[in-house]
Amino acid sequence: MNLVTVSTQTRQAERQLEKLQAKTAKVGVIGLGYVGLPLSLLLSEAGFTVQGFDIDARKVDQLEDGKSYIFRIPATEIEMARSQGFRATTDFSKISEQDAIIMCVPTPLTDHRDPDLSFIQKTAESIAPWLVRGQLVVLESTTYPGTTEEVLIPILDRGCPEGLQAYEPGMDVDANVFYVAFSPEREDPGNNTVARRDIPKVIGGHGAVAGKLAGALYGNIFGRTVAVSSTQAAEMTKLLENIYRCVNIAMVNELKLLSLRMGIDIWEVIDAAATKPFGFQPFYPGPGLGGHCIPIDPFYLSWKAREWNFHTRFIELAGEINEGMPRHVVHSVSEALNAHRKSMNGAKVLVLGVAYKKDIDDLRESPSLEIIEMLQEEKATVDYNDPYFPTVGRGRHYDLGMTCTPLDRLADYDCVVIATDHSDYDYEAIVRNSQLVVDTRNATRGIVSSKIVRC
Ligand SMILES: NC(=O)c1ccc[n+]([C@@H]2O[C@H](COP(=O)([O-])OP(=O)(O)OC[C@H]3O[C@@H](n4cnc5c(N)ncnc54)[C@H](O)[C@@H]3O)[C@@H](O)[C@H]2O)c1
Repeated sequence: MNLVTVSTQTRQAERQLEKLQAKTAKVGVIGLGYVGLPLSLLLSEAGFTVQGFDIDARKVDQLEDGKSYIFRIPATEIEMARSQGFRATTDFSKISEQDAIIMCVPTPLTDHRDPDLSFIQKTAESIAPWLVRGQLVVLESTTYPGTTEEVLIPILDRGCPEGLQAYEPGMDVDANVFYVAFSPEREDPGNNTVARRDIPKVIGGHGAVAGKLAGALYGNIFGRTVAVSSTQAAEMTKLLENIYRCVNIAMVNELKLLSLRMGIDIWEVIDAAATKPFGFQPFYPGPGLGGHCIPIDPFYLSWKAREWNFHTRFIELAGEINEGMPRHVVHSVSEALNAHRKSMNGAKVLVLGVAYKKDIDDLRESPSLEIIEMLQEEKATVDYNDPYFPTVGRGRHYDLGMTCTPLDRLADYDCVVIATDHSDYDYEAIVRNSQLVVDTRNATRGIVSSKIVRC
């Protein structure tokens, strides 16, 4: 690859390109969470010298001690990366030592369900004074189209050293500039069928030079890179993917509610439909949406669409249906207890699985938490079990203060709710040892018992 086709020659950009291609570039990763830490390890494994940055000193200390705080990342992987030079720090002055910087900080919603860009803004403010000429800055956080250009770049431009600025398309590429790109993270936590490096990396540069530099960086760790024409196109690509999932999950949730009334097994129907070799992709119903992406990201676009006087009806409708699912589960528990001549008020209910989906240690936006709170509001006595969470304390939207109940106490509960279908659970044994099971995930598929209510 060369930059001849991009514009006039630039020794600065060419040098950067060579370093990125040869993996002699130093890469800083900001935000060492579910996205940033695995990315750091991938870069390190590929041969880059990686410097991690986080404001959470506990995370930094653990990494510096060679420990992991993410269940699916063993400490041996941290040790391996450290032997290749990976270090973690809270000291942002080290930004100036990096050739490329990748931002992986959270993008939640505010209490009013508007985009909360404060993490991106604060990160930009922290790194701006340490930016140096020729650096590549890539934003990976999921966000609405326009964030890189309208929010990130202005903060970097305002705070960076005098004379330096973000490269703008049309400028002399050899000017006193740093380069900016957007490249969304597309991983599916807990899905082991596709290795992370086999998920093509979409990249949109703010100007073609930035895109090429980011392509060179990611080309070393991903099997395929997909260049799009702008940061906005890359931002929108990620939202399209997540809105596609959100809308399809809502559709299948709605059809589940109808199928329940009609006495049809929706999971059997989905399996049958999935045999069609084209034109159908299976999505599965559940107790509600969870995670840091699908329940949140679509509303980033709804918010932005308002600026264009545009109402995103699919997103709103999908949100309404998906957000109603926890209430449906609680109603099903109430009906199931009723059928056993018991009332919700005073019932002992055990919720199995608090992670937002199976086999992961992530609670964010988990419908289980909402179900627990709703059951408590209905005066049930609620406990939980989850092999990934010995305790559930306080989070952004909840404060439960609960401790994991062992599975040998199943018989003590009037009702056991399967909210997350972790693979480690022995569902035959769960049904055998429980008085009543409400299954929101079809985890008890194939088990015949009058104790099971599928909802
Ligand atoms: N988790 C996923 O599976 C996933 C998948 C695709 C995309 N994403 C997107 O990636 C982004 C990051 O998500 P995540 O799941 O890794 O979040 P996370 O909460 O697990 O990690 C974010 C990290 O950023 C750190 N941080 C916050 N503010 C900071 C600052 N100012 N400076 C430095 N560090 C700071 C936090 O301490 C935390 O360690 C989000 O935009 C998310 O939507 C996540």
